[in-house]
Amino acid sequence: MLNIFGFIGILLLLLHGGCAHTYTRDDFPNQFVFGSGTSAYQVEGAANEDGRKPSIWDTFAHGDGDIASDHYHKYKEDVQLMANIGLEAYRFSISWSRLIPDGKGPINPKGLQFYNNLINELIRHGIQPHVTLHHFDLPQTLEDEYGGWVSRRIVKDFTAYADVCFREFGDRVKHWTTINEPNILAWFGYDFGVLPPQRCSRSPIANCSRGNSTTEPYLATHHMLLAHASAARLYRKTYQNLQHGFIGFNLLTFGLVPKTNSSEDIRATRRVQDFLVGWFMDPFTFGDYPDIMKKNAGSRLPFFTKKESNMVKGSIDFLGINFYYTLYIKNSPSSLKMEERDYNADMAIEFERNDTPTHQIPITTWRLQRILDSLKNNYGNIPIYIHENGQKTSCNSSLDDWSRVKYLHAYIGSMHDALRKGSNVRGYFVWSFLDGLELVGNGYEECFGLYYIDFQDPSLRRKPKLSAEWYSSFLNKRTMNPKFHMEIEKNTHALSHSLLQYNAMEGSFES
Ligand code: NOJ
Repeated sequence: MLNIFGFIGILLLLLHGGCAHTYTRDDFPNQFVFGSGTSAYQVEGAANEDGRKPSIWDTFAHGDGDIASDHYHKYKEDVQLMANIGLEAYRFSISWSRLIPDGKGPINPKGLQFYNNLINELIRHGIQPHVTLHHFDLPQTLEDEYGGWVSRRIVKDFTAYADVCFREFGDRVKHWTTINEPNILAWFGYDFGVLPPQRCSRSPIANCSRGNSTTEPYLATHHMLLAHASAARLYRKTYQNLQHGFIGFNLLTFGLVPKTNSSEDIRATRRVQDFLVGWFMDPFTFGDYPDIMKKNAGSRLPFFTKKESNMVKGSIDFLGINFYYTLYIKNSPSSLKMEERDYNADMAIEFERNDTPTHQIPITTWRLQRILDSLKNNYGNIPIYIHENGQKTSCNSSLDDWSRVKYLHAYIGSMHDALRKGSNVRGYFVWSFLDGLELVGNGYEECFGLYYIDFQDPSLRRKPKLSAEWYSSFLNKRTMNPKFHMEIEKNTHALSHSLLQYNAMEGSFES
């Protein structure tokens, strides 16, 4: 029997293009940008070539990224592939230790040349470069010298690095993102210690040789906010009037759903939102951390001076969000009784992720919609880019990646709905353009690429997956091959069913 939520679900589907299979590129504003992305360490390779020095990710991965997808040598071919499928923008990151091998000091001319070549090649093909300055790969020298992000000294070095990038590339790059997923970097790199730089002191899953899970996640993040704000101030003062670009920040967002409809779980879910998103968005919007973080972390949470608060507040022109998973949140107050609490314990929750046994990510477009709504409602209608969204498949699976086609079709359709509902979303980037190295396992188990790469084959030949063909038809406004219609139709039915279930089971209490 359908309850009222189920009924509303059907209505919404009918009114709102739950049958979104009819949309085309022309249904989106011209200036909305569709792209795809990668990050330096995940695809460049050439880790020990042309003067590049290691980053903390090289150390963590024990050289797994030495060759990676060899984008460093194949960038021309790759840009040609981007142009062939009709990408409007390419999101990539600069390897700090390729451009400035010691993190500070002299610029590496070969590094400079590589990024100039890549950017020029993109521009020549009419593809907008969207550049991230820090994508998990801090120069190892800075980690060794003063502990990287846990030291305030990073603010000066990051600003100097950003200055080089703005000065050298800013005539052509109009979209700068300072830091990718700082919330995940802090939680998994400085509390659990499972990601580089693997610092922790009380992790249930890792043994770290150094670190302090009770203070460092907060400290590292504080310095990331100050470093961002300092780079943004520099950009606005020295470059923005001349270069007419924008400076933003990036966060990993999750669909957050209470495990039960108890008021404790609902409150816990709001708390996680504050710890994961408010941690950054409150300072950007109001100049200070959320109250619940101050309460639970106490003096372990650094504070902003008046001057710093003013510098951080308003320091983003846009927010980039990455979206993949949903977390089910259960209140777990016992951790608040611990004498020495880490960041995770301060959240006072337990969580589960919504992976399926096949390791595919379930499609839950409505949760992305809720995130967009909550960003709009809580933080003003700031411009948003979906910086990452994509489906993972096993790296050696078939080129017929229907699960990715369905995933992308559903999420791009939901962008359309979001725009119609007044969301300020400005662009969408498929993660990722190429198969590359992932942070989990040996790095080449789960792949997200539109292009397949056989990492056993020394030629690292790129082969388009079905998803590349689908994205290309969409981007080039071509009539879609009928094979896509049939499968997508089936998927739309399956999704309608999930949405009904969601409305019936969760919609009534999701925070
Ligand atoms: C987020 C990260 O930014 C990216 O490096 C990673 O590959 C994807 N998520 C997928 O796990």
